[in-house]
Amino acid sequence: MLTRLPLGSALEADARFRTNDPQRLAMSHFGTNRRTFLQSAALAGCALGVETPLIAPMTCVAQYSAQNDARSGGEAMQVTLTVNRERWSLVLDTRTTLLDALREHIGLTGTKKGCDHGQCGACTVLLNGRRINACLTLAVMLEGDDITTIEGLGAASTLHPLQAAFITHDGFQCGYCTTGQICSAVGMLAEADAGWPSGTTNDVAISPVLTDAEIAERMSGNLCRCGAYPNIVAAIKSVASRGLE
Ligand code: FES
Ligand code: FES
Repeated sequence: MLTRLPLGSALEADARFRTNDPQRLAMSHFGTNRRTFLQSAALAGCALGVETPLIAPMTCVAQYSAQNDARSGGEAMQVTLTVNRERWSLVLDTRTTLLDALREHIGLTGTKKGCDHGQCGACTVLLNGRRINACLTLAVMLEGDDITTIEGLGAASTLHPLQAAFITHDGFQCGYCTTGQICSAVGMLAEADAGWPSGTTNDVAISPVLTDAEIAERMSGNLCRCGAYPNIVAAIKSVASRGLE
């Protein structure tokens, strides 16, 4: 008897394609794309209680975390995070990054995972108004801090000035880096307002002027694989010139 597993599970997929038609049979093995296969295998693994360490973190976090803690000596800890002015009480493996807490536990997927190594800036969020890489920050350290993600900056009906400027100046192509670029730009403009110099500032005794070179230098931690840099700089410059309303 076929045991029903969660929708999309490997066994259910197999049952859907169960047929004697050789052409359809071939599709059942090769028509499923890689992502579907991986998700299905992970869900089947969860339902059956078997280990699927490669893909489990993406699809069955709670079960995987508990199993993983027991296996590798990790420790679970309760933490309350304040994200976009909302409080979230979570029990997390102490090794969970803020990026994974946001995306996998809270469900705020606007913050992107690029390199997961602090090199691309896709995961940039604001911590007490300062920009940080969420992939390099442990979530359990942030109790009592104020975390702002792209979802907290503006809404579809009331865009943040930088969100609107990125649209006006066509500051993106695929958009994968964009949420990090915008959060980083918010933090960067605050730094410039506070008079912080950058590596390219000529005279540190006067308030920095946000030229193209200054903006490029200050945003150099945020990579754009589409190469939308000229438009990103133009978008940020347009907001810098009139200030954040
Ligand atoms: Fe965090 Fe690349 S994902 S810096
Ligand atoms: Fe595609 Fe920046 S818009 S990576």
